[in-house]
Amino acid sequence: MRKRHTASEEELKRAEQRSGWRTIRKVAPYLWPDDKPWVKRRVVLALLALLASKLIAVYTPMLYRDAVDALAGEGVPMLALGAVGLTVAYGMARLMTNGFQQLRDALFAAVGQRALRQLALETFTHIHRLSMRYHITRKTGGLSRIIERGVKGVDFLLRFLLFSIGPLVLELVLIAGILFFLFDVWYLAVVALTIAVYVWFTFAVTEWRVKLRREMNDQDTDANQKAIDSLLNFETVKYFGAESREAARYDKAMEGYERAALLTSYSLSFLNFGQSFLITGGLVIVMVMAAMGVQNGALTVGDFVMVNAYMIQITMPLNFLGTVYREIRQSLVDMGEMFDLLEQPSEIADKPGASALKVGGGRVTLDAVEFGYDPERPILKGVSLDVAPGQTVAIVGPSGSGKSTIGRLLFRFYDVGGGALRIDGQDVRDVTQDSLHDAIGVVPQDTVLFNDTIRYNIAYGRDGATEGEVIAAAKSAQIHDFIMGLPQGYDTAVGERGLKLSGGEKQRVGIARTLLKNPPILLLDEATSALDTETEREIQGALRRAGEGRTVLTIAHRLSTIADADRIIVLEDGRIAEQGTHADLLAARGRYWSLWQRQAAEQEDAA
Ligand SMILES: Nc1ncnc2c1ncn2[C@@H]1O[C@H](COP(=O)(O)OP(=O)(O)O)[C@@H](O)[C@H]1O
Ligand SMILES: [Mg+2]
Repeated sequence: MRKRHTASEEELKRAEQRSGWRTIRKVAPYLWPDDKPWVKRRVVLALLALLASKLIAVYTPMLYRDAVDALAGEGVPMLALGAVGLTVAYGMARLMTNGFQQLRDALFAAVGQRALRQLALETFTHIHRLSMRYHITRKTGGLSRIIERGVKGVDFLLRFLLFSIGPLVLELVLIAGILFFLFDVWYLAVVALTIAVYVWFTFAVTEWRVKLRREMNDQDTDANQKAIDSLLNFETVKYFGAESREAARYDKAMEGYERAALLTSYSLSFLNFGQSFLITGGLVIVMVMAAMGVQNGALTVGDFVMVNAYMIQITMPLNFLGTVYREIRQSLVDMGEMFDLLEQPSEIADKPGASALKVGGGRVTLDAVEFGYDPERPILKGVSLDVAPGQTVAIVGPSGSGKSTIGRLLFRFYDVGGGALRIDGQDVRDVTQDSLHDAIGVVPQDTVLFNDTIRYNIAYGRDGATEGEVIAAAKSAQIHDFIMGLPQGYDTAVGERGLKLSGGEKQRVGIARTLLKNPPILLLDEATSALDTETEREIQGALRRAGEGRTVLTIAHRLSTIADADRIIVLEDGRIAEQGTHADLLAARGRYWSLWQRQAAEQEDAA
């Protein structure tokens, strides 16, 4: 048990490392884009501002030293300003350090935000490109959370690497150089050693604290679950007189939390005190060295003060190192999830150099199509079908026989396992998905609407549709009069997923939207089966009008709605069992005939 735990820790670490490199590889192009010189200019200017701010920051203690020396009447100041002038210059330098820092942030903000926006957009677009198979197995909320957290992680990492760790390293190097040149190599050695031990200590303790925190969160979840379970079962608890047992169980879980929480808090004290101990140790050693230098006349009092100022200057950013380290690790995990998503290949992709579908009349051909969602379970076992331009062909058959699957294959949500689907002689796999999707209009069984106005939802059918076209489509779908009767007309909001409209109204909005798209091929997948017979009759007219001059594939449950189709296909167990006109099939007295008899009887019962 224990062993497995450490193994997964290791894996986690490796994943983080991978994610770290991948992040740099992915994010770098946004910070240095070849086609956007202004971004490059800003990055360079921000780096210059950073350099300026750090150079001034490192120079500031020297002004302080000179001011002290001027007061003590020692040393030779770099600027001959006198003690007061030097103090003012010291103040100015401090102000300029901050000024350049703010300038750097302002310069970089636009670059960072642009990178985030592009990354979010790329992920969003990619998610839309992913196949249906991926989407139906993932939770939408989970996907949007991955984008949100991943983008936040990138933001954090950009800011901390560029504005916290980077400047810190730069400052440390500069100060180390000054100590080496102005004093001697021993100062440098002590400071370098102090920082090395400090960083090692901080990372090691933080690593341990991350584990403690995770344990604390686990214990918290555990106690919570036990409490909820116990309260939900309160009746059972009473039946068995188990209140004190339950209390003991809850208390035990809380005890675990208490222990973990205490450890977390002790460990923070340990971290803080350890950091302070190390830094103070280094500080005292360096200052004792400086004090001895002053005593034997090698250094001035100003030098002594300056060494102290440098040490304090180093300490402040180092204090945050633990937090930064922890947050960076968290960001790497979050970004890893997002980049995993970005690298998820889409199952259905355009062939390289695929051309656009050229639709003439809109002949749809299925050539011995075989398909299964799962290779082990074939759904379509060799279906051949030819729909001539302008014809209406109906597909009927028991639920689960693969009717909707034919539509999904035609739209290329999936690729066939064998055989081919063609539109006007072109294999759907050889043309671009965009052109294929343009050619086919789908009215599904349940139309789902956007949470916006009726106008928006109808106009969705074609980008840039005019008001007149929207109204014409609504009239053809026989929904215009209904809309005009609403107090807010076309501006009526339909609610989430269109819930404020009845099934029939929603369906007619869906038909209007597809009519506006004006596709040469229309696919109606049980477009009316969710509706009552009365509403169905109303919509039937709208659909018949919609089919005029197009190739129509209509999948139906109620046979009365497709009796006038040019041809009827009876699909059963993945094969075409019968086909012909309504009259042919009734005369044949086969499966269609018995289905028809049953439905007619049901209708009579209902009436
Ligand atoms: N995404 C999916 N993954 C696995 N099996 C599926 C999927 N979609 C549908 N199926 C199965 O495929 C069969 C045919 O489905 P479908 O074409 O929707 O039937 P229908 O004829 O009722 O429209 C059903 O048995 C169904 O369980
Ligand atoms: Mg179906």
